Amino acid sequence: MTALPDADHLPEGEEKVRAVRAMFDTIAPRYDLVNRIMTFRLDVGWRRKAIRSLGLGTRSVVLDLACGTGDMCIDLERAGYRPVGADLSFGMLAAARTPAPLVHGDGLVLPFPDDSIDGVTCGFALRNFVDLEPMLGELARVLRPGGRIALLDVAEPPNALLRWGHSIYFGRVVPVIGGWLSDRAAYRYLPKSVAYLPEPAELRRLIVDAGFGDVDRVLLTGGISQLYTGTRTG
Ligand SMILES: C[S@@+](CC[C@H](N)C(=O)[O-])C[C@H]1O[C@@H](n2cnc3c(N)ncnc32)[C@H](O)[C@@H]1O
Repeated sequence: MTALPDADHLPEGEEKVRAVRAMFDTIAPRYDLVNRIMTFRLDVGWRRKAIRSLGLGTRSVVLDLACGTGDMCIDLERAGYRPVGADLSFGMLAAARTPAPLVHGDGLVLPFPDDSIDGVTCGFALRNFVDLEPMLGELARVLRPGGRIALLDVAEPPNALLRWGHSIYFGRVVPVIGGWLSDRAAYRYLPKSVAYLPEPAELRRLIVDAGFGDVDRVLLTGGISQLYTGTRTG
């Protein structure tokens, strides 16, 4: 059996892929419940904001990369888009409640042809990828020119007081809630995994270098969450 990630050791490479997949397989059955409780349902509004930022035409095909249990796919469909989800964890896909087509796959090698997708969303998964450069390269490859990305993840608030309160909540309270309702090791690891996220300037550079223009970063709810958007150039 694959070991779940350990909060005191952030794995890299293949070890990270196996650990991340095992972790999400384990927490999948109660993932949505814990998410709603630990974010006080703010996650729902953040996903909808990401979808609004796409600004694509009705019936556009939108890939929700790292779709998990399919929350974003449900909202994409409500917004008039044609979503397709992809995720690495069979457990998360099995727990999904969306009618959208879902595929099992790694974001670093997407099973879609070049220029075949109008938009890509990705919710709270950037820090789970082994390498963001090839992942962003794959997004650029599958998106048509003019296609849009909306990438959401957690963030550290710029305000010192808010950052302190947030670190206590995220680092101490969330693991306890996660432990009661799901798996303590996983919810200890999740706050620590923020360390994988590049600094904003570096992530912006990676997005631009992958082939995106109009790259923007918006902080949500005082900066506890962040949204990167961009348009495929070329
Ligand atoms: C925190 S969950 C987010 C799920 C969903 N996007 C949401 O907003 O609730 C992170 C997801 O990323 C998926 N994931 C991690 N690494 C991946 C990869 N290399 N390719 C595709 N999905 C991946 C995990 O299986 C998990 O479902």
